[in-house]
Amino acid sequence: MRIIEKVKEMQVWSDAARRAGRRIAFVPTMGTLHDGHLALVRAAKKLGERVVVSIFVNPAQFAPDEDFAAYPRDFARDRALLENENVDALFYPSAAEVYPDGCQTHIDVERLAPLLEGEFRPGHFRGVATVVAKLFNMVRPHTAVFGEKDYQQLQVIRRMTKDLNFDIEIVGHPTVRDADGLALSSRNAYLSARERQAAPSLFRALKRAEALVAQGERCAGRVAAAARAEIEGEPLAEIEYLRICDPETLAEIPRIEHAALLALAVRVGPARLIDNAMLKT
Ligand code: PAJ
Repeated sequence: MRIIEKVKEMQVWSDAARRAGRRIAFVPTMGTLHDGHLALVRAAKKLGERVVVSIFVNPAQFAPDEDFAAYPRDFARDRALLENENVDALFYPSAAEVYPDGCQTHIDVERLAPLLEGEFRPGHFRGVATVVAKLFNMVRPHTAVFGEKDYQQLQVIRRMTKDLNFDIEIVGHPTVRDADGLALSSRNAYLSARERQAAPSLFRALKRAEALVAQGERCAGRVAAAARAEIEGEPLAEIEYLRICDPETLAEIPRIEHAALLALAVRVGPARLIDNAMLKT
């Protein structure tokens, strides 16, 4: 596995692979890899002959009061995990390499970014879209894989890719969960043993909503209330938002006539956890 720290070296590597006719599949991450990330890497292996994984904890997508400094980092472990997956290149740039002279140019996905996560984390998707666009220009992949766990992020990236004519196929991958349903996340490391026991209430809420819709309930308010009750039964969990939305526009909808997205963010102790499910009629 080639470890690349410089943008120029990444571009030269990528251009050589392209000239040799290799399809490059890319998985951007912030490291502290878990089986969710590794599932994306395995999917990428099927999509291209060359797989590039990036590890970059992007300061621009954290607000000043968020966990940028505390975000878990373990390069030696990540590197060994990726070697084991036979990844071709690990792109590991420093912040100075990605933002050598600050950055005056930003990408605002105007209607999708301010909703849901954007309401509680203003500027978050501006940071995400900008760094992903920069990473696309550094890695020059044919295809890139993103997790459905961050459903809104996936939609923001799809929209940006389309709007800016990146010739890159964006592929979504289903959420990988622990046995009790908790979506794997680097931030689960913040949970104490007691908080970890409270965390699967998010998954139970999603399942309760899916069951109601499968039984024929179409009123979004009633489905949301039942999902909410699952989490409210857990004293350590505090809901930030829980909404039923149009899967394309992410606007809240009153009735579930077609597929609808249930998206939620919940604080459990020091961790802010997000999850979602597609409710199918
Ligand atoms: P990070 O949180 O490290 O996630 C990297 C990728 O892994 C994202 O596409 C995310 O959706 C996916 N992922 C995380 N947990 C997952 C799970 N349990 N199941 C399936 N996929 C999962 O998302 C980011 O980093 C950053 O915002 C980034 C896109 C790298 C831009 O900085």
